[in-house]
Amino acid sequence: MPKIAVIGAGTMGHGIAELFAIAGYEVALVDIAEDFLKKALQNIEWSLRKLAEKGQVKEDPSVILSRIKPIVNDVCKAVEGAELMVEAAVENIDVKKKVFSEADRCAPPNAILATNTSSLPITEIAEAVRPERKPLVVGMHFFNPPVLMPLVEIIKGAYTSDETVKKIADYAAKLGKQTVVVNKDVPGFIVNRILARVNEAACWMVARGEATIQEVDSALMYKAGLPMGAFILMDYTGIDVVCFIGDAMLKRGFKSHPCPVITQKCQEKKFGVKSGEGFYKYPAPGKFQWP
Ligand code: NAI
Repeated sequence: MPKIAVIGAGTMGHGIAELFAIAGYEVALVDIAEDFLKKALQNIEWSLRKLAEKGQVKEDPSVILSRIKPIVNDVCKAVEGAELMVEAAVENIDVKKKVFSEADRCAPPNAILATNTSSLPITEIAEAVRPERKPLVVGMHFFNPPVLMPLVEIIKGAYTSDETVKKIADYAAKLGKQTVVVNKDVPGFIVNRILARVNEAACWMVARGEATIQEVDSALMYKAGLPMGAFILMDYTGIDVVCFIGDAMLKRGFKSHPCPVITQKCQEKKFGVKSGEGFYKYPAPGKFQWP
């Protein structure tokens, strides 16, 4: 079966690797340290068992898991012979450019290099590769958790070819996802650009003492019909990731008024579910439970 390289095995990367493995692909999964990969494989195994219990995967979880090969800190090795790379490393332009430059050097000439970035311009990331690869650089933006969320945004940078967009749509269809093509590489694309406004409004209401976190979340869930309130979603996303996204969008011209209620959590390293506390508390860090 064709090989897919997934770079970054955190919240998103492990789920993306799991999705491709379920669809039958061989997956090379890279992170910077063995411990992160070990945790990622444990999370994938746990999730596959849940899916198997519900009859949502056809194969035995161990068979699916055996298609994922962990690789410590070697992007080059992971992309060798791969037809697609999906980069899901930390939301930092320098890290992403380094990954893309290495992948460009080692991947087959026709391999597509996609990024799961939430906010960084695809065009800027594409500057890290040689001119002949630029049409093959694209945004493939999954949502958390990738195994369950139905949407993938496909983002066209200035150099992305229509053929690349079409191929990503085909991969997404094989993973059972719906796609929206984002033709303008604007900060935050579609979903995060809108969510940023929701988060900002929610956060300033709390900062000004107009509503509590629980009141805002209840209103958004029980009246506006969102599956999660703004604050619980930020906890689930990772407040560190929310801050990276906010900074990246602000630097690229998105007009916003960063709210102290969010930035303070980042400074205190209260990142949400992953650290055990964010806007709410999670007794088992890393495991989501409704507070
Ligand atoms: P995370 O912090 O959970 O995971 C990032 C992983 O990348 C970490 O395990 C880290 O060790 C690894 N990493 C850092 N540098 C690396 C490198 N040079 N090579 C390989 N691995 C490296 O972050 P998360 O939430 O998984 O985000 C990853 C990407 O996905 C970001 O670009 C983020 O904006 C995007 N994203 C996040 C969503 C969310 O809800 N958390 C939703 C959709 C996109």
